[in-house]
Amino acid sequence: MKKSGLGKKLAFYDNKPKNDEFLNAIENGLEKTQKEIPCKFLYDERGSKLFDKICTLDEYYPTRTELHIMHSNIDDIAHRLGDHVLLIEYGSGSSLKTRVLLDRLQNLSGYIPIDISGEHLLHTASEIKKQYPDLPVHPVCADYTGKYNLPEIVPPDARRVVYFPGSTIGNFHPEDAAEFLRTISTVIHNNGFLLIGVDLKKDPVILHRAYNDRQGVTALFNLNSLVRANRELGANFRTDLFKHYAFFNPTLGRVEMHLISLEDQKVHINGTTFAIAQGESIHTECSYKYSVNEFAELAKNAGLEVDRVWMDEDKMFSVQLLRAGL
Ligand code: AVJ
Repeated sequence: MKKSGLGKKLAFYDNKPKNDEFLNAIENGLEKTQKEIPCKFLYDERGSKLFDKICTLDEYYPTRTELHIMHSNIDDIAHRLGDHVLLIEYGSGSSLKTRVLLDRLQNLSGYIPIDISGEHLLHTASEIKKQYPDLPVHPVCADYTGKYNLPEIVPPDARRVVYFPGSTIGNFHPEDAAEFLRTISTVIHNNGFLLIGVDLKKDPVILHRAYNDRQGVTALFNLNSLVRANRELGANFRTDLFKHYAFFNPTLGRVEMHLISLEDQKVHINGTTFAIAQGESIHTECSYKYSVNEFAELAKNAGLEVDRVWMDEDKMFSVQLLRAGL
């Protein structure tokens, strides 16, 4: 793992995926019958900023609801996590909710934010470092769904708590989610915890609004994969010829985001031409929603046990504490 010096205080562990990963994914994805671009490529610097903006929108209930649940139950959460916790955050983004934890947890052993978006991560990590000068902060730029190494400075006996907020778990297909949870169960050992935000099944009209905001920020966010492909891979997507389309699929229990082609068109990427028909879609994201029971079942299959579930009054969102099952 490359370690770049950024003054004495903040070491930056750079595991950022290479460009050809994006190229391979997009080329493979556009060969499929249902064209697709994996959603993790939405999050370059611009995409991360657009997502931050989504989180402030009226229609997008998850962020404020999760924050509310954290604030309302932080005493209970802190009590259950205990002292000397090593907090490992997956997909830290702006670490908004993390501050609720950092403010309240006693004698934290360290904070390791892991994010795929390097600049964004560094910015947030240095802000955290300013606000919590005594806290050891070790940002890791990596795709946490793959293999990554924890910085060597980590005390081996610290109780590891993986924090995975934002219902990002919803981006995984259930089988992949189970596999990923299983990996987490090995990261936290026997005495650690997973604290995870899980979005719940609800009235599809509310879901529809959340992914079709009036200002069109979600649409810009969705189109960002194409913008990014144009910039990074020299592709020539015409973003004005694609329309944001998001809906709840009740059979599969997920919100799907697509980009619908408005015309028959050809796109060139790295010497290859892809034909996209009028009305054809590129699938860009799945966001699975779970009932409390469905998620407990998924966790159980992954070797984790649900300790506690906190929810808002309207049962829109859940924050769940899990530990390694027996
Ligand atoms: C970050 C994956 C939880 O699925 O709600 C927001 C991403 N996509 N609006 C979600 C997203 C469209 C978000 N997650």
